[in-house]
Amino acid sequence: MKIGHKINVTVASYDARGRGLAEAEVAENLVRDCVIPFTAIGDEIEATFVRRDHGFKVCKLEKILKPSNDRVKTSCPHAGSCGGCIWQHLDYKAQLQEKVRGMQSVFSKIEVQDKLRDAMPALEQLQYRNRMDFAVGWNGEIGLKEYGQWNRYVDLSTCLLLQPGAGEILQVVRDWMNIHDLQPWDVKFHSGDVRYVVIRDGISTKQRMVIVVIANAKRVDDQAKQDLIDKISKLDPTPTSLLIGEQPKIADLSYAESFSTLFGEPYITENVNDISYKIHPNSFFQTNTKMAALLQDVVLDAVEQVGTKNLLDLYCGLGFFGIAAAKKIESIEHVDGYELDAEAIELATQNAISNSVQDLCTFVAGEAENLEWKNINADTVILDPPRSGLHPRVIKTLLSNETPLNPETIIYVSCNYKRLEHELPSFMEKYEVEFIQPLDLFPQTRHVEVVVVLSRRP
Ligand SMILES: C[S@@+](CC[C@H](N)C(=O)[O-])C[C@H]1O[C@@H](n2cnc3c(N)ncnc32)[C@H](O)[C@@H]1O
Repeated sequence: MKIGHKINVTVASYDARGRGLAEAEVAENLVRDCVIPFTAIGDEIEATFVRRDHGFKVCKLEKILKPSNDRVKTSCPHAGSCGGCIWQHLDYKAQLQEKVRGMQSVFSKIEVQDKLRDAMPALEQLQYRNRMDFAVGWNGEIGLKEYGQWNRYVDLSTCLLLQPGAGEILQVVRDWMNIHDLQPWDVKFHSGDVRYVVIRDGISTKQRMVIVVIANAKRVDDQAKQDLIDKISKLDPTPTSLLIGEQPKIADLSYAESFSTLFGEPYITENVNDISYKIHPNSFFQTNTKMAALLQDVVLDAVEQVGTKNLLDLYCGLGFFGIAAAKKIESIEHVDGYELDAEAIELATQNAISNSVQDLCTFVAGEAENLEWKNINADTVILDPPRSGLHPRVIKTLLSNETPLNPETIIYVSCNYKRLEHELPSFMEKYEVEFIQPLDLFPQTRHVEVVVVLSRRP
């Protein structure tokens, strides 16, 4: 099968990345597995073979000959090319069904499929995100990566995953770059000026922060700063803060090493379940505020059920779970929060004060894999690592009989359930999986959040 080969196929299933999967007869008695992004099970399509990827032939959808029953009309003009949403063309019920199928398949491999509870569906299918990091492409496009490409960007006029007004912000930055001769960043040659435009919203507080990330902040003179202030503050809805961030490293990073605030506060505030969180412009915060409230309820219920006294909130971020537990659960005597991001830890400490639980909480910055476990006393541990999962040393130390911690309950919050296939078996040598609760925090994508509650066997 050569590049450019045309196929006519019916999509039979999805692969692990949410792409349509079909068998194409490329010659007599010769069948090849093809993946076709942005298709649905049941679609009869015409497609062209464009590249090889891990044994799959990746094809580009050319024409839908007969649409699947799961297809819906997409509302976004960029659906089908933007890498932000792989499933906007799929009816939400079909999206959730496919996520459940994926989880059942993974959890049955480790024989815990019977512990999988019904998924909590998303409360909103669009405009649910409180953050988006839009890259500036080398041609001056501002948007998200084109699906399947590492250095090609879709020049976005809108993004329906965010609150309204994002497209207008991106247009202001494009015009501003032209007027002030600021060059787009080139990820390949590591040159140029403007690298990212980050939009962060406080959904409950109606705050909106815009951060323009520049390689060298000195390239933005006073006149350019004033012009950006004037243009951004004329927008409706008007952002509540505007920051210039500087990131001189050549790595493709959307966070900044330093900031200057052009107007508003240098952080935003979000309220979840009556707890208020101050968020640093660089720090992680659950990206779906409304669903994060349900996620917090699931975790806190589990913490409360077992009468937790001492809680270790590992990978605690701004104290999202730990502070809420200290505030709401009567049995809690102490919360230790541990997190890599020192700026998040500084704000977690402030968040504990503003929520009046500073006497119950200690937040420390450091790598989870280097935690001094002997200083920790916890009967319940929350683990909420990044998508890459737990460091093997964390698993080893947590489960070792030599570590004095030996928690009775572990609550593992994961945004990558596929990692659990590899990580849960070690836990299961000592712990029973009580339940696995999925929550759809990421509609239009193939991702899903899960909470796994484990209790130590007697
Ligand atoms: C999925 S977020 C969860 C944060 C927090 N629990 C929340 O719900 O907002 C993962 C967090 O792990 C932190 N992190 C990443 N690598 C780490 C490491 N090696 N040790 C400790 N924390 C780490 C990140 O900075 C991030 O805040």
